[in-house]
Amino acid sequence: MDFLSHYSEKFNSALATSQVQRQPVELYQPINYILDLGGKRLRPLLTLMAADAFGAQANEAMKAALAVEIFHNFTLIHDDIMDDAPIRRGLATVHEKWDINTGILSGDAMMILAYRQLEQYEDDRYFQLMKVLNQVALEVCEGQQLDVNFETQMSVSESEYMTMIRQKTAVLVAAALQMGAIVARASDSDQNSIYSYGVELGMAFQLQDDYLDAFGDPKTFGKQVGGDIIENKKTFLYLKAIELLDAEASKSLQKLFNEVQVSTEIKVEQVKSFFLQSKADEVLKLRIDEHTQNALNALESTSLTAASKEQFRQFAVWLMTRVS
Ligand code: IPE
Ligand code: IPE
Ligand code: MG
Ligand code: MG
Ligand code: MG
Repeated sequence: MDFLSHYSEKFNSALATSQVQRQPVELYQPINYILDLGGKRLRPLLTLMAADAFGAQANEAMKAALAVEIFHNFTLIHDDIMDDAPIRRGLATVHEKWDINTGILSGDAMMILAYRQLEQYEDDRYFQLMKVLNQVALEVCEGQQLDVNFETQMSVSESEYMTMIRQKTAVLVAAALQMGAIVARASDSDQNSIYSYGVELGMAFQLQDDYLDAFGDPKTFGKQVGGDIIENKKTFLYLKAIELLDAEASKSLQKLFNEVQVSTEIKVEQVKSFFLQSKADEVLKLRIDEHTQNALNALESTSLTAASKEQFRQFAVWLMTRVS
C-alpha cells in the first residue's frame, strides 16, 4: 500500500531530525535506541492520515504524530519492565541492555518529550490536544494496572478483559486519530466517529497481539513468543480456553499457570496445546473480525470522502495481516 510507505517515510525522517542530543548521554541514549528500533509506526501513521483526510495543511500534524509515537515508546519501555520482557523489535529491551533504573528514568523523560512536541501548537489546538493525550495517558495506566491485577486474580470475565485492553491499548490508537482530526479542526462529531473507529481497531489489534504472542513466528514477531504464558497473563486465549475446556482440562490449564516446577518451554507448549484443543484461537479470530467490522461501521458515520474511508479500510486490513 503506497500511501502507507509515503507516510512512514515522511514520519521516519521527521523522527530522525527530532532526536535529542543533550546531556547526560546515559539518559538520552536509551531513548534514541528504542526510537531507532523502528516498529510499525501505526499510531503516527493514523495521526497523519486523519489530519490529511480531514483537510489539514501539509505536515501540520507531524508534531502531534511525533508526540503519539514518543509516548507509545515510553509505554513500551515501562511495559517491558513490568512484563519482564527480554526482546522488543528483535533486539534487547532497554532494561535488559541497560538496567531497570535506566528504563524508568529514560521512560519518564520520554513522556515529557512527547508532551513537549505539542508545545508547537500555540493556539486553541494545544489545549485540545493536551486534553485528549492526558485523558488517554491515565487510561493506559489504568489498563496496565488491570493487566497486572489479572495475573493473580482467580478468574477474569470476557467483559473485564475487554475493558482492560480498551484502556491499555485501544484508547491510544483512538487518540492518535482524534489528534490528527483536531489538528485539521474537524467537527466534534467527526472527532468522535474517528475515535470510535480507533477504539474498535485498537481492540482488534490487541486481540491479535495476544494471538501472535502465543502463535507468532519467532523469526518475524520481534518479541519473545510465549511471553504472556510465561508471565501468567490472562489473555483472551487463556480465559476462553478456561471457559470452553471440560472441567478436568480446564483445571489442568489453571494448574499449569500456577506451576513453578515445570520448565518454561514445557509450560508454553502445554498451554498452547490447551488453547488449540479448546478452539479459543477460533473464537479470538471471530472477535477480531467483529471489532474490525465495528471499526468500519464507525468510519461510515464520519463525513470523510469515499477515498479517505477506503484508506482507513485498507489500513485495518493491513493491520490485521501483520506478523510483528
Ligand atoms: C505494542 O505495540 C504494544 C501493544 C499495544 C500491543 P505495537 O505492536 O504497535 O509496537 P511497535 O511500535 O510496532 O513495535
Ligand atoms: C502493552 O500490552 C500495552 C502497553 C504498552 C501500554 P502488551 O504487554 O501485550 O504489549 P507487548 O506485547 O509487550 O508489546
Ligand atoms: Mg508487554
Ligand atoms: Mg504488558
Ligand atoms: Mg502483547
